[in-house]
Amino acid sequence: MNNKMNTALALVLGCCLALSAQARDKRDYHEMVYDSGCKSCHDQGTKTYPSDGSCLQCHDIDELAKQTARSEEDKWQNPHNNLHYGKDLPCVECHGEHAPKKPICSNCHTFKFDKHKE
Ligand code: HEC
Ligand code: HEC
Ligand code: HEC
Ligand code: HEC
Repeated sequence: MNNKMNTALALVLGCCLALSAQARDKRDYHEMVYDSGCKSCHDQGTKTYPSDGSCLQCHDIDELAKQTARSEEDKWQNPHNNLHYGKDLPCVECHGEHAPKKPICSNCHTFKFDKHKE
C-alpha cells in the first residue's frame, strides 16, 4: 500500500472511532461532565474503569452515606456505608455510566433501593 492510501485509511478509521465514542450512552445528570472530556472520569484512560478518585472529585462519600441513610434497624443496608464493605466499595460495582447496572447487593439480597437509577 502506498502512503496516501494509508493516510486515507487512518482518517476513515479515526472518524469511526470518534463516532463510536460519541455514540456511547451517557447519563443525563452527567451531561456537563462530558464537556471536559472522557478524562474527567477516565483518569487512567478509557481502557480502564474510572477509579473512585475521579468520582470523588465531585461527590463526597460522607455526604452520600447521609443521603442514603436508612432507619436505625436497617442502617447497615446503606449502600454507601454497609455491613460488609463500609464506605470502601468501588462506585462502579453499583453505578453504570454507559450501561445499566444493578447494585451488587442485589446478587444476594432483596433490599429495596428505590432511588437507584439503573
Ligand atoms: C465533574 C464532576 C463529576 C464527576 C467526575 C462525576 N460526577 Fe456524578 N454527578 C455530578 C453531578 C453535578 C450530578 C448531578 C447532581 C447530583 O445528583 O449530585 C451527578 C450525579 C450522579 C449520580 C445520580 C444522582 C441521582 O440523581 O440519582 C450518580 C449515581 C453519580 N453522579 C455517580 C458518579 C460516579 C459513579 C462517578 C465516577 C465514575 C461520577 N458520578 C463522576 C458530577 C460528577
Ligand atoms: C461520568 C463518568 C464517565 C464519563 C464522563 C465517561 N465514562 Fe466511560 N465509563 C464510566 C464508567 C462508570 C464505566 C464502567 C461501566 C460502564 O458503565 O460502562 C465506564 C466504562 C467505559 C468503557 C469500558 C466499558 C465498555 O463499555 O466497553 C469505555 C471504553 C468507556 N467508558 C469509554 C468512554 C468514552 C470514550 C468517554 C468519553 C466520550 C467516556 N467513557 C466518558 C464512566 C464515565
Ligand atoms: C455474595 C453475596 C452477598 C453480597 C453481594 C452482599 N451480601 Fe449482605 N449478606 C450476605 C450473607 C451471606 C449475609 C449473612 C446471612 C444473612 O443474614 O442473610 C449477609 C448479611 C447482610 C446484612 C445483615 C442481615 C440482613 O439481611 O439485614 C446486611 C445489612 C447486608 N448483608 C447488607 C448488604 C449490602 C448493603 C450489600 C451490598 C453492598 C450486600 N449485603 C451484599 C451475602 C451478601
Ligand atoms: C453498594 C452499591 C453502591 C456503591 C458502592 C455506591 N453506590 Fe451510590 N447509590 C447506590 C444506590 C442503591 C443508590 C440509591 C439509594 C436508594 O435508593 O436508597 C445510590 C445513590 C447515589 C447517588 C444519588 C444520591 C441521592 O441523594 O439520591 C449518588 C450521587 C451516588 N450514589 C454516587 C456514588 C459514588 C460517587 C460512589 C462511589 C464513591 C457510590 N455511589 C458508590 C449504590 C451504591
